[in-house]
Amino acid sequence: MNIKTDWFSSWFNTPFYHILYKNRNDKDAQFFMRNITSFLKLPTTAHIVDLPCGKGRHSVYLNSLGYTVTGGDLSENSIIHAQQFENETLKFEVWDMRKPYENKYDAIFNLFTSFGYFEDDKEDILILQNMKNGLKEDGTLVLDFLNVEKVKNTLVKNEIKSIDSIDFHINREIKDGFILKHISFTFEEKEYSFTERVKFLDLEKMQSYFEKVDLKITNIFGNYALDSFDKETSDRLILIAK
Ligand SMILES: C[S@@+](CC[C@H](N)C(=O)[O-])C[C@H]1O[C@@H](n2cnc3c(N)ncnc32)[C@H](O)[C@@H]1O
Repeated sequence: MNIKTDWFSSWFNTPFYHILYKNRNDKDAQFFMRNITSFLKLPTTAHIVDLPCGKGRHSVYLNSLGYTVTGGDLSENSIIHAQQFENETLKFEVWDMRKPYENKYDAIFNLFTSFGYFEDDKEDILILQNMKNGLKEDGTLVLDFLNVEKVKNTLVKNEIKSIDSIDFHINREIKDGFILKHISFTFEEKEYSFTERVKFLDLEKMQSYFEKVDLKITNIFGNYALDSFDKETSDRLILIAK
């Protein structure tokens, strides 16, 4: 695989990605982190890996709750930004989740649809295998994905989002087993276009992935309040595994 040409290594590393998503709800993210850490009864002695961490919003908050946190992301720009928040118990590093982990952790968090980017199922499964190998004996994986069924039933095909004087033209479609989000805009007289591509991974397909790497799913939640998952109505598909 050529990292330079993968959509996720270019788009997520641009300032435009951060502009488009600047209004995402960090309060929800913090609410989720409080709920999940108390549900897991995770002691503050735990070392959590947040991978991929983006600019570190979950990592910084988890660290403020008392946890030792390592945040990793493929995007060098995001990691450089996150490193300003580092302290003794909070570290950030450029980290490709396709690579095996060098240490073992109490918990690994994969948050906000940071999975299913690859064409070949084998690569998604390899990432899960790496996560499993990176967990201590009693460690926990939290994988927070979108609920593809709800996305399909509520798909907004076309929309324009105007943020920081940029008009982002967004076109969504579901094609060949992927949810595609085409984003085009003009900035300083130059035209840009990117496509986000996430695999249409429903609960059954996720379960088959987890089985393949022998990760046992212990809980399935449908939102950040940790209500039960419902295929038709849930916003998220949140899997907890050991
Ligand atoms: C949707 S964002 C979510 C980031 C973060 N969890 C958050 O909630 O802000 C997905 C992230 O995955 C990162 N990413 C994509 N492919 C990766 C890879 N192979 N290894 C590590 N990070 C990757 C991107 O750079 C991007 O920051």
